[in-house]
Amino acid sequence: MILVKLGGSVITNKETIEDERSKKIFYRARTARLMGELKSSKEEFILVHGAGSFGHPLSKKFNLGEGYVSAKQIAVAAKVQEDVRTLNLNVISAMREKNLAAVSLPPSLLVKLENGRSKKVNMEQFNHYLKLGAIPVTFGDVVPDISRKFGICSGDDLMLHLAKEFKPRLAIFVTKVDGIYTKDPGDSTGSPPKFITEINEKTIKLITEPRDNVPDVTGRMKRKARMMLTIAKEGVDCVVLNGLKRNRLRRAIKGEKVKCTIARRRK
Ligand code: IPE
Repeated sequence: MILVKLGGSVITNKETIEDERSKKIFYRARTARLMGELKSSKEEFILVHGAGSFGHPLSKKFNLGEGYVSAKQIAVAAKVQEDVRTLNLNVISAMREKNLAAVSLPPSLLVKLENGRSKKVNMEQFNHYLKLGAIPVTFGDVVPDISRKFGICSGDDLMLHLAKEFKPRLAIFVTKVDGIYTKDPGDSTGSPPKFITEINEKTIKLITEPRDNVPDVTGRMKRKARMMLTIAKEGVDCVVLNGLKRNRLRRAIKGEKVKCTIARRRK
């Protein structure tokens, strides 16, 4: 089995959106191409996707990641749930176009947080649909929180829970960049960014986060690198690669050498 997360910046206009009123765009053709690449391996997989422009800008404006602070947030939380479901249905229909039997599993119904951390993910439905030969598809969402009333469960968090449960042979984060750099590859100030081919306790210390205005309530590359190490400690090889480059995903799944950042499994 492989576990794949399509980042919100790959499938939506996450990085170009100006504020929560800007038009949200789903990149259907790109998503369908990536699904074709996944399908060609004929291997069982679970798909996770990010929220991108459908989730981050509103969540950031109303601090949904911090949990309940005012009654005004409730309608916003409901709206973000609606928007991420709209995105999810778009992903599901792009998959159907490729004849993939994708089944939507919304975290708002399966995940419980406590103090912003995911405490419980109900795996029953994942197991059920995998046995049927269908492809479970889940995504970054607004979910209930036992102490803060609600919070945000990111696709990256779901990757960790699913890696623990299913021990796939490979977990892949599909992003807009070739892998993890010491700093934002677009940043031309100071020393040039260096590409990190392997994340470990040493190389992770070299990463600095960008100071830009991209709305992101669930963290950027350093957090992703930490997540990769945690997944690797669960005994699962974990890579970050560029989904904008045709066939990189397909070739990585086949075991071919492609440009990417890897965290090798520890067990
Ligand atoms: C974020 O999920 C969920 C919400 C903001 C509701 P992710 O953190 O997985 O999304 P991306 O990949 O960064 O867009």
